Amino acid sequence: MQNKWSIKLGVAVTFWLFSLHLIPAHTVKSPTALSIKEGTGDHSKGEETQLENEDPEDLEVFRPTDKWQTLKPGHAVPAGSHVRLNLQTGHREVKMGEEEGLKYWSDGNGQGMMNMQGPSYTAEELKEALKKIKEGMDDPVDKKQEEDAVRAQFRPIEELKKDMEALDMLVETDVQVMRKLLNKFNNTNSTTDEKVTALLDLEYLVHQIDNAQNLVSMGGMQLVINALNGTDIRLQESAAFVLGSAVSSNPSVQVEAVEGGALQKLLTLLATQRPLAVKKKVLFAVASLLRHFPFAQSYFLKLGGVQMLGELFQTPGAEALRVRIITVLYDMIIEKELISQVGMDLIPDSSHQERLRQYAEVSLLPVLVEQGWCRLVPELLASPEHDWREKALRTLLAMMAQCHTQYKQNPSLTASLSELQKQYQELVLTEQDVGEQDGYFGEILALVDSMVVKMQQV
Ligand SMILES: *[C@@H]1O[C@H](CO)[C@@H](O)[C@H](O)[C@H]1NC(C)=O
Ligand SMILES: *[C@@H]1O[C@H](CO)[C@@H](O)[C@H](O)[C@H]1NC(C)=O
Ligand SMILES: *[C@@H]1O[C@H](CO)[C@@H](O)[C@H](O)[C@H]1NC(C)=O
Repeated sequence: MQNKWSIKLGVAVTFWLFSLHLIPAHTVKSPTALSIKEGTGDHSKGEETQLENEDPEDLEVFRPTDKWQTLKPGHAVPAGSHVRLNLQTGHREVKMGEEEGLKYWSDGNGQGMMNMQGPSYTAEELKEALKKIKEGMDDPVDKKQEEDAVRAQFRPIEELKKDMEALDMLVETDVQVMRKLLNKFNNTNSTTDEKVTALLDLEYLVHQIDNAQNLVSMGGMQLVINALNGTDIRLQESAAFVLGSAVSSNPSVQVEAVEGGALQKLLTLLATQRPLAVKKKVLFAVASLLRHFPFAQSYFLKLGGVQMLGELFQTPGAEALRVRIITVLYDMIIEKELISQVGMDLIPDSSHQERLRQYAEVSLLPVLVEQGWCRLVPELLASPEHDWREKALRTLLAMMAQCHTQYKQNPSLTASLSELQKQYQELVLTEQDVGEQDGYFGEILALVDSMVVKMQQV
């Protein structure tokens, strides 16, 4: 995906010039040591332009490797490097090009030597290449060969300028890219494949908070929400994916999504027959929408969300979703608990009071008891997966106060716990054999032990 935005500059590019191009006023200071051969069309001159830019020490030649690295201002990029814009960080990144070694170039306007490998050539190679350059010139051989060699790594300034213009045109802003994607998605002539691709590309972009907010202001959020109750299953799935990513850790976008009717539509998708892949993405979107958003949680309860999750939990064939369902519930329980704990150490301010008030309205635990979760959650202990069991145990403990009586009256829960206790006691021994004292199995055993102890309490 990122490669799509990468730009191959098979030539030398200096970053400072790029900066100069973008913010001309800031960069003019003292003369720099860097010279660029100005292509004059006259080989006999080989003019050099002393560019006023930065202190000599400021300009480092960046040494690309085969990995992408972030460019810093003042870095010069050797020839043959690839430069791209990292959409997630907004930084430019560079890595070594495919071609290697020194290349001598000459065209109608100028000539020079490009170092295709970063400046890791030998002195002998340098001299050879320099000789070739000098042979094309009438000028006497310059004494400062080394300096020239460095200069020769860079292209004539006219060419550089052209590259920069091309780069500017190629690097679209995220907003421009999103506009195109939305147009593609919103166009009745686009095929379903094209629309799905547009949504997946959007999903990538909306991880950035600004992009998610732009999605809202561009009208894209509503398009995505509308696709949730559209006719195509694949679009429902991708739309839920975009929505979930856009609202993740993004309160203002969470509000927009709920106001746009996203929660009802997601719950409808959960309650009706849909392929597992769709339900997975829908659960992801529901979880992201509810996280740290008590208003949405209350609304979720009002819309019967817990009951829908319960039905899905018990649907044959949907076992793979069980741990995700439990996670949504567990996260809500714990979030509310943590908020009230934080309140104890803090000097209460008005916004905290407001949060407490909002969470107080989320009355999840009584609903869980009423809808049979004291009995449903223990079923997850039968899973062979350690992390599923762990999640089940944590949730069981979180519901202990409300479910205590029901747990005690559940013989299969008692049996599962003593079976697990044995299993994890053995696993802890194997962990200790390899020198691990606080291992994962030990953690699970502690949860099992805690369950056993608390169930025995009156
Ligand atoms: C869809 O295609 C038709 C025929 O190719 C064209 O006339 C129409 O303008 C297109 N609609 C959009 C929204 O691009
Ligand atoms: C989607 O297309 C319709 C017309 O087909 C247009 O009215 C609407 O503004 C478009 N929405 C967005 C967000 O581009
Ligand atoms: C989707 O829901 C909206 C209301 O939220 C409704 O206007 C629209 O007709 C529905 N679309 C489909 C295809 O059912």
